[in-house]
Amino acid sequence: MASVNLEKIVKTYPNGFEAVHGVDLEVRDGEFMVFVGPSGCSKSTILRMIAGLESISGGELKIGNTVVNNLRAKERGIAMVFQNYALYPHMKVYDNMAFGLKLAGLPKQEIHERVTQAAQMLEMEHLLDRLPRQLSGGQAQRVAVGRCIVKRPEVFLFDEPLSNLDAKLRASMRVRLTELHRELRERGEPSTAIYVTHDQVEAMTMGERICVLKDGTIQQVDSPTTLYDRPVNAFVAGFIGSPEMNIRNATVVAHDGGLGVELGDTLLPLPASFADVLSNRVGQKVQFGIRPEHIGTPQSVLGAAQHGNLATVKGTFRLREHMGNEVYTYFELGGHEFAARIPTDFAGEIDRAERGQPIELSFIMGKAHIFDLDTGLNLTVAANPLS
Ligand SMILES: Nc1ncnc2c1ncn2[C@@H]1O[C@H](COP(=O)(O)OP(=O)(O)O)[C@@H](O)[C@H]1O
Ligand SMILES: [Mg+2]
Repeated sequence: MASVNLEKIVKTYPNGFEAVHGVDLEVRDGEFMVFVGPSGCSKSTILRMIAGLESISGGELKIGNTVVNNLRAKERGIAMVFQNYALYPHMKVYDNMAFGLKLAGLPKQEIHERVTQAAQMLEMEHLLDRLPRQLSGGQAQRVAVGRCIVKRPEVFLFDEPLSNLDAKLRASMRVRLTELHRELRERGEPSTAIYVTHDQVEAMTMGERICVLKDGTIQQVDSPTTLYDRPVNAFVAGFIGSPEMNIRNATVVAHDGGLGVELGDTLLPLPASFADVLSNRVGQKVQFGIRPEHIGTPQSVLGAAQHGNLATVKGTFRLREHMGNEVYTYFELGGHEFAARIPTDFAGEIDRAERGQPIELSFIMGKAHIFDLDTGLNLTVAANPLS
């Protein structure tokens, strides 16, 4: 058993700053959990408390069934990979990986088997005789991961391990780490992993579940698709997704027997399903949110057409960015700037548009979110039939 359980965990640093405000979280046995959030939201602080590198000011931390608050790092059955994978410069890769096991007094044969097996899994058998300075950044990072695997820990902790690598290498290491986790699990080896990143793409692609943090509190813990489709508040909605969700101030209005949102001089009708949660908000200011891929040209969104779902309006063209398969289209509507992701095949009109010219756009309103203006809470996740 190697679940990791946080109950009302608090961290107050010696200078009096409370960095973590009573966090409750269960990381399940064998799960790949990602902590994501902007810089300074206390991802590392929480991870370091789990690792035993930072004292816990309040609450209870369990690994498996054991309360580990007062256990030293070594006694917790964890291994951690950092952003700066400090390898011993004078030791060959083999010895870097074997070092911790030698200290722990494992028999030579056992050490050899573990190092060889880890090297195979990470496809780095050919690197075992090299010195760290003879490795590329990606290779060095693999050695750092290998050094953890050989310890056969109950829990792996990763703190932004890929942020020193270039984009291409980051993408391939991402896949390798995910595969590795799966492989360990298939072998029946304990492999609970907690992975910290500020990069929402890493979070979305690697996490089985993602814990979104802001200012030392948890905002939402869910699977990547649930986070994306049903964000509990405007912060999560804006943090996950790129280009980010358009979130703009609007007013709820009565329209044509139903409801709509008004942005400046533009009215966007809402599907009937939104009425239940918004009917008591007519006349109130809210935040209207819609992802760029849910705005298209009238042709590109035809597949999403059903009664009351599409709102077609005229926006003012500002800028386009060609991404190959899509054209990111920036336009103005009701005094607000919006971004749309339009499939290139449907972007003819966009391609011809000049700055300031009107263009026709269709909003898939069933995919919209309405957030409370003050609390940011998502009022519509329950009412959203298409997500
Ligand atoms: N030793 C410390 N003393 C006081 N404040 C700290 C200390 N270490 C980190 N902090 C503060 O705690 C907050 C969380 O830091 P950190 O956990 O490193 O965030 P993240 O890893 O999400 O970027 C930040 O505001 C940071 O300035
Ligand atoms: Mg950090």
